[in-house]
Amino acid sequence: MVSSIFSFALSIFFLSSFALSLNSIITDKHALISFKNFITSDPNAILSTNGSENTSVCNWIGVSCGLKYHRVTALNLSGYDLAGTVAPHLGNLTFLGYLDISSNSFTGILPFELSKLRRLKVMNVGANSLTGDIPAWLGSLPQLEELYLNDNTFSGWLPSDICNNMSNIQILSLSNNRLEGQISPNIWKCTHLDVLLLSFNNFSGNIPPEIGRLSYLTQLYLGHNSGFQGGVPKEIGNLSRLELLNINNASLTGDIPSSIFNIFSLRFLSFSDNSLSGSIPTFHNLSKLEELYLNNNKLRGWARNEMSNRETFIRTQTIATIGYTAPEFGMEGKVSTNGDVYSFGIMLLEMFTDLTLFRMPHHIDAHHQPAQHATISSTQSAIFSHQIDSETTSRVEG
Ligand SMILES: *[C@@H]1O[C@H](CO)[C@@H](O)[C@H](O)[C@H]1NC(C)=O
Ligand SMILES: *[C@@H]1O[C@H](CO)[C@@H](O)[C@H](O)[C@H]1NC(C)=O
Ligand SMILES: *[C@@H]1O[C@H](CO)[C@@H](O)[C@H](O)[C@H]1NC(C)=O
Ligand SMILES: *[C@@H]1O[C@H](CO)[C@@H](O)[C@H](O)[C@H]1NC(C)=O
Ligand SMILES: *[C@@H]1O[C@H](CO)[C@@H](O)[C@H](O)[C@H]1NC(C)=O
Ligand SMILES: *[C@@H]1O[C@H](CO)[C@@H](O)[C@H](O)[C@H]1NC(C)=O
Ligand SMILES: *[C@@H]1O[C@H](CO)[C@@H](O)[C@H](O)[C@H]1NC(C)=O
Ligand SMILES: *[C@@H]1O[C@H](CO)[C@@H](O)[C@H](O)[C@H]1NC(C)=O
Ligand SMILES: *[C@@H]1O[C@H](CO)[C@@H](O)[C@H](O)[C@H]1NC(C)=O
Repeated sequence: MVSSIFSFALSIFFLSSFALSLNSIITDKHALISFKNFITSDPNAILSTNGSENTSVCNWIGVSCGLKYHRVTALNLSGYDLAGTVAPHLGNLTFLGYLDISSNSFTGILPFELSKLRRLKVMNVGANSLTGDIPAWLGSLPQLEELYLNDNTFSGWLPSDICNNMSNIQILSLSNNRLEGQISPNIWKCTHLDVLLLSFNNFSGNIPPEIGRLSYLTQLYLGHNSGFQGGVPKEIGNLSRLELLNINNASLTGDIPSSIFNIFSLRFLSFSDNSLSGSIPTFHNLSKLEELYLNNNKLRGWARNEMSNRETFIRTQTIATIGYTAPEFGMEGKVSTNGDVYSFGIMLLEMFTDLTLFRMPHHIDAHHQPAQHATISSTQSAIFSHQIDSETTSRVEG
């Protein structure tokens, strides 16, 4: 008797927990069906052939479920040319940790309901046509580590309190949007930022010195913005892990603070296409530096440093034929300006260090293709963010 009551109770318990988990995967299924219904164009027919309502959602293309609770934990529909708006129902995928709908043609805003995704670690909606402000609620996703909103048409200011609760954020990619106004000094509250991409926007005002407090930063992209008043804050020199700093074409004025040339970890540095003036700070110990771009500024200083020997110069000249014009050099009569193009920055670097530093990409070896190199420099952000993307992918997979 006792044992049958016990087993009855037990079976109730199992039934109800089964019903609970069934209920939940049904919620997930409803959410995904709604997501599907908001999609207006699916040229590769990935959702119709492979998202049929009779199969478990866990077998749908791009959907992964967790083993333990059998709930949807990842949704990856990157690069399928999907068009439509983002269904608010996605916010019901409460176990979702990874969301990637990048490289599609989604339009509209990011619905507020996504703020219910309390377990989300990675959100990638890059390379779509999303509009509206950067939602402040993104800052309240407690687990968020990587956020990609790049290559959309988001506009307005970056919310000043977005970093208040984003203590886990490591990658913040907002490049190539229509963001404007000042970069909030509160950016330093995203204390674990590793990569910050804000290039190709319309940011203005000062570059906040508080960026210098982001001590984990390894990559900082601020180039191609409307124009930063004032110069490069010397506090950036405090970023002792920085490997990549790119602030090209951003109307910078003033001197380059010598602190920048003390960041031992630097591999890539570009201040090209600004109005920086003064002399180029001396540097002796940037042993990791591979690429340096200071071209198209009002800098002085290279002429004061005599070339150590003719060998260096010739080697430089050869390497330099793939880079930029530097009319100053032509004026010195050392290199003809007639079609002679070279990387002023790289040459400088060699003058200072007497090293051959540039790793020549195999596809830029002809000196009659200077434009190609210029293209590489201006799309540097894209190249590096591509690398980040693939790294992210493998990290998530691993
Ligand atoms: C969906 O597509 C994947 C790969 O294309 C395939 O492995 C899977 O069996 C398909 N699922 C259904 C339900 O058709
Ligand atoms: C799904 O299942 C229902 C009932 O089990 C059936 O009537 C329907 O034809 C099935 N649909 C597809 C697309 O297989
Ligand atoms: C899921 O989300 C939608 C829209 O956000 C909502 O209307 C619906 O009630 C939610 N719940 C379930 C269980 O589908
Ligand atoms: C940050 O979190 C705290 C406590 O969890 C909350 O009260 C506050 O509203 C959050 N702030 C933002 C900007 O999300
Ligand atoms: C950038 O802002 C300026 C005014 O501050 C405006 O004239 C310009 O159109 C904006 N550019 C873009 C690409 O939004
Ligand atoms: C830079 O770092 C040093 C030591 O780590 C600290 O004393 C100084 O206040 C920092 N400067 C700024 C502007 O953050
Ligand atoms: C710098 O930015 C302006 C405005 O966005 C653009 O017109 C110009 O071509 C850019 N210059 C370079 C060298 O990329
Ligand atoms: C150069 O930097 C390295 C690493 O930070 C350091 O160990 C070395 O002493 C420095 N050399 C000089 C000459 O400053
Ligand atoms: C997401 O999907 C794309 C395209 O199918 C694939 O290349 C990428 O590896 C996937 N990412 C993850 C984390 O599964």
